[in-house]
Amino acid sequence: MRVSGPLVEVEGVEGLSMLELITVGPQRIIAETVAIVGNKATLQAYEYTGGLKAGDVAAATGDELSGLMGPGLLGQVFDGLMRPLSSAPMWLTPERSGSLADPVVLAREWTFNPTAVAGTNVSPGDILGTVPESGSVEHRVLVPAGVFGELSWLAQESRVRGVDPIAVVAGTSVTLAEPSPIRRARPFRSRNTDAVPLHTGQRVLDLMFPVARGAAATVPGGFGTGKTMMLQQIAKWSDADVIVYVGCGERGNEMADVLAGLSQLEDARTGGKLIDRTVIIANTSNMPMMAREASIFTGITVAEYYRDMGYDVVVIADSTSRWAEALREFANRNGDLPAEEGYPANLSSELASFYERAGRVTTLGGQTASVTVIGAVSPPGGDMTEPVTTDSQRFVRSLWMLDRDLAYSRHYPAVSWTGSFARDAEELGAWHAANGRPDWAARRERAIALLAESDRLAELAEIIGSSSLPAQERVLLLGGRLLRDGVLMQNALNANDAFCSTGKAAALLDLVLDVVDACQRLIERGVSATTIEQVDLGPVLRAREECGPADAAAVRARGVEFLMELETLK
Ligand SMILES: Nc1ncnc2c1ncn2[C@@H]1O[C@H](COP(=O)(O)OP(=O)(O)OP(=O)(O)O)[C@@H](O)[C@H]1O
Ligand SMILES: [Mg+2]
Repeated sequence: MRVSGPLVEVEGVEGLSMLELITVGPQRIIAETVAIVGNKATLQAYEYTGGLKAGDVAAATGDELSGLMGPGLLGQVFDGLMRPLSSAPMWLTPERSGSLADPVVLAREWTFNPTAVAGTNVSPGDILGTVPESGSVEHRVLVPAGVFGELSWLAQESRVRGVDPIAVVAGTSVTLAEPSPIRRARPFRSRNTDAVPLHTGQRVLDLMFPVARGAAATVPGGFGTGKTMMLQQIAKWSDADVIVYVGCGERGNEMADVLAGLSQLEDARTGGKLIDRTVIIANTSNMPMMAREASIFTGITVAEYYRDMGYDVVVIADSTSRWAEALREFANRNGDLPAEEGYPANLSSELASFYERAGRVTTLGGQTASVTVIGAVSPPGGDMTEPVTTDSQRFVRSLWMLDRDLAYSRHYPAVSWTGSFARDAEELGAWHAANGRPDWAARRERAIALLAESDRLAELAEIIGSSSLPAQERVLLLGGRLLRDGVLMQNALNANDAFCSTGKAAALLDLVLDVVDACQRLIERGVSATTIEQVDLGPVLRAREECGPADAAAVRARGVEFLMELETLK
């Protein structure tokens, strides 16, 4: 046996197959089979390998690396192998061998409410019953994939444990909890192609660089540019049913922040606590390296589990760079030929296998549901040409590039309007048009043009001085500033501003564009640019913090008043 950090080589384990889980040594450390040559196998250990020695026994388990899915996940914190980290009552007690047969693991009891009818025919994805949990998300117990036929027996309303059968379908018994292999996408019926927006409550995203439900997005940003803050805001405010937050190789206290933040906040839609719709998977920087690699797939498997119940789920991974580092460390120990910047040659396919599990689908049970994937990237030294950043961009529909200069000037969220993209913007514009906002796409186009034009004019003004610019252009400079400071900037620490409804976001953008139009008319009427520049823009700039988070009407009222003031200028 050879051991090097998380890499373990064993010999003579009979009948081992690729990706099979194996336990090593007296502590029964969990490892995954990643290569087999003859009777030798290379393993990736998910726990600290200190203490392992030559001659220690390795035992195949016959299982793949799986997470145990069942009621009780919401509001809880797990490690990358889906073992609970919080002290709350839990049926998923850490059990080193990962054996699901141990009764202690599944000891907690749940109330099962049957909803299906015994004697009828059922197929995968059909709802057998529900389990009440503390929050608003109804836990639905489904017929598992591959199980068809007559529902010959269904449990009465009763207290059951995870291991207890609650139904028998064509001779197969169904239990509340089931292991789900994390590296395999859970099956669904078909992919949907229509684009429906995920409302994140963050204006720069919803207005400028939207993401569709079931799409993937990536957030590259240098050190301290606000990646974690932005992901936390999305976790708090986006209108998904379930959030899976994967803290991957980042600081432990940030996970504590997420937990504390969500525990305090109310879910505006349901009146419950936001934490009750959230599953946290934490493999922070101080925890075993390779479990970090698993954590991302564990997270997406949990997301698919809730998707299959018919929910819209968002998976957030902070940071995929730390995950890629785990891949790199293992590949280097294994002596693989390094590709770009020392990453393994399969970095790109590994990233793809994560992002490609995003999707809006028709589930086996026939419901429309989605998994949206959002991953942060921390490029070393802010170098946006490094492999994790460039590879990630190929697999996502939305790119939210964080700009160092914006962050340094405390323009948060520091989403660059020149470096970001949203491939579904046009289709999402059509969705808004069909949902009462026919001018959505046109307003967005105008905003993007205004930002570009005012950036160009600002550079020019640096050289020749803004007073030398034509009056119309001075108005555009001013409009750009209103747009940046009054609409795109968003203060995560202000109760009115942290979340912004789509209606309020649209009203703020309308306000700025209306002010620009009004100023252009004033110029045409002969009012001087200097006079316009002296107007106190405070009411427009402060609207985002002074009007309630969903108070579009207050923004519009403010607009009417401000435009009336403007009209009096001479
Ligand atoms: N929307 C926001 N509103 C107010 N302040 C913000 C906002 N976004 C970021 N900040 C500020 O920027 C700081 C750094 O943000 P954050 O920790 O999210 O960056 P990061 O990119 O995740 O950093 P790291 O590279 O260390 O992971 C925060 O502590 C906060 O002060
Ligand atoms: Mg961070």
